Amino acid sequence: MSETPVPLRTPLPHALAGQTVVVAGGSSGIGLAAGVLLRTIGARVVVVARDEARLAAAAAVIRAAAPGPDDIVVTAAADASEEDALRHALDPVDSIDHVLVTAGTLAMGPLAAIDRKLGAVVVNSRLWAAYAAARVTESRLPAGGSLTFVSGDFIKRPLPGTALAAAGLGAIEALTRGLAVELASRRIRVNAIRAGSTDTPLIRAFLGHGADPGTAADGAILAAGAATPLGRLGSAEEVAAAAVFLMANPYVTGSVLTVDGGQTLA
Ligand SMILES: NC(=O)c1ccc[n+]([C@@H]2O[C@H](COP(=O)([O-])OP(=O)(O)OC[C@H]3O[C@@H](n4cnc5c(N)ncnc54)[C@H](OP(=O)(O)O)[C@@H]3O)[C@@H](O)[C@H]2O)c1
Repeated sequence: MSETPVPLRTPLPHALAGQTVVVAGGSSGIGLAAGVLLRTIGARVVVVARDEARLAAAAAVIRAAAPGPDDIVVTAAADASEEDALRHALDPVDSIDHVLVTAGTLAMGPLAAIDRKLGAVVVNSRLWAAYAAARVTESRLPAGGSLTFVSGDFIKRPLPGTALAAAGLGAIEALTRGLAVELASRRIRVNAIRAGSTDTPLIRAFLGHGADPGTAADGAILAAGAATPLGRLGSAEEVAAAAVFLMANPYVTGSVLTVDGGQTLA
């Protein structure tokens, strides 16, 4: 147990300036939005994802978000659920202050259709990515550093066909609380966002249309949002902003912050 309390730091907007944030899953959706936001507040961003072309495109988007040196946006291609690959990818990064894990895929279907093999993909891509990120980075994080994971509303409001997806999300929240307790002695904080349905390429693809704005998915996104308390789905930026808050506030740990526009109330 450290005798020194967690450092006092000015929370947003300045807390993360000059700090290095790894975003595992940062080439799309919530992770990409977080990378953009982090760049605009002066953080150095390390983007990890598997597809190299999408990684390069994401790095260009993040660099373009605010003036600054190109080399403060770094990409590393790796499957975040593979601990050795993630460690290898992050080896060249000289310092890490915070880690956001948005890596994860969604597979839904009835019990009879989701066999253990497919189920393992759902669980591995989410739970083991978060766990691997924690194992790979915990010895490198400073006091006040943080890990932030992403859970989802399905754990409170499951739909038919979401049982295993919800189980994976529930595991993330359990992992968050467990690691928050375990790593508190080193003053490392661990939190999660519980996101409601959010307009990202993932949800657009899930609705069965193209992933990009301007496609038939626009109508499906509007229709899905109209039934929610605030009348629309959340944006990737809104969820990302909550993740940045959790990183930046040094007195938050073990928290699961819901960003769902009240979707679980409906
Ligand atoms: N959108 C929603 O409504 C919603 C709601 C609740 C929770 N969530 C969760 O929030 C997270 C982010 O969602 P999103 O909508 O932003 O998804 P997204 O747009 O599909 O982005 C997912 C990102 O993660 C990367 N990724 C996926 N598996 C990976 C792996 N094994 N290793 C490294 N990178 C990986 C993807 O790139 P590569 O494929 O190139 O690796 C991509 O950059 C997901 O875990 C999702 O389940 C989303």
